[in-house]
Amino acid sequence: MSDETGSHTDVPENLPSGRGGHGDEVAKPNPFANPGLPPHEHRRQDIDDKAAKHSERVVAGLFTLSMLGTIAFIACFVIFPVDKIVYIFPFGHVSALNFSLGLTLAVALTGIGAGAVHWARTLMADEEIADERHRIDADDELRENVRQQWITGAKESGFGRRKLIRNTMMGALTMVPLAGLVILRDLGPLPEKKLDHTLWAKGKQLINSNTNQPLRPEDVVVGSLTFAQPDGLEESQDDFQQQIAKAALMIIRLKPEDIKDKRELDWSHQGIVAFSKICTHVGCPISLYEQQTHHVLCPCHQSTFDLSDGARVLFGPAGHPLPQLRISVNSQGNLIALGDFEEPVGPAFWERS
Ligand code: FES
Repeated sequence: MSDETGSHTDVPENLPSGRGGHGDEVAKPNPFANPGLPPHEHRRQDIDDKAAKHSERVVAGLFTLSMLGTIAFIACFVIFPVDKIVYIFPFGHVSALNFSLGLTLAVALTGIGAGAVHWARTLMADEEIADERHRIDADDELRENVRQQWITGAKESGFGRRKLIRNTMMGALTMVPLAGLVILRDLGPLPEKKLDHTLWAKGKQLINSNTNQPLRPEDVVVGSLTFAQPDGLEESQDDFQQQIAKAALMIIRLKPEDIKDKRELDWSHQGIVAFSKICTHVGCPISLYEQQTHHVLCPCHQSTFDLSDGARVLFGPAGHPLPQLRISVNSQGNLIALGDFEEPVGPAFWERS
């Protein structure tokens, strides 16, 4: 190509030398050249049968350790009671069951992991292979190639030949899931009818949870929220938490004309109504009372119940009204229950009962 100046190139004159002329290009080293693989270095185990045998025993030992860890896990689960507390330095006082389960499961899993890593690092073939990029779909030749490589890899890993490693590894892998299986025991036993009943029964006095004294109608004033529990339930009892979780009550006084639900009115005493304190969503204790509207709010997920209308759900995820307890007074003028709740209290157990 030529122009009117007679030059034989159309490259601008201000380009650096070597870019525009003929025959003056300088060969530069390629900064992205493939450095290739470093020369392979044999490990001791590759050239020394004794060292290979030693590594094999170490790997088998680690898998065996894993099996022992699993057996110890199951043994600890059976031996230690849930409430056993022990002192372990430097952790202090810890649950013997949780500590032993954590420790033994760690041994079982670490044994498998360490065994596999040691096997790969010392006994499996460690020569690096460059795998060129290729089309995603493999042709028959490539498939056959891969198949052969897989067979070679399996042979080189010694999986078939090193029976001690293979068998102990299979044993460890088979046993580890047992640890998960045995703890399924904690899903049982089924509660049967235990959740259907509480300590409330006909004639049982309502005890103020704050003062520990029998509740009298005059103690419950309009606008207040009082918590109550069944007479005879003491904090020192072993099953106190289980029982109070079912029997806790909220007591409020409403003007009888404000009560919209007929059954609620029939089950009240001079406008005093008693409802379960346990939220019917997932069982949080309800504690927020709005005296103007007679609404109670569960602090966990904001379910809101209208205590002037059978504790029906106004808002939130709770699926059922709060169960009401039928109350009256005894000859001493103390508030008493006239029976147990008619519905199971708490989370949506109703669907299953
Ligand atoms: S437990 Fe009360 S709203 Fe979820």
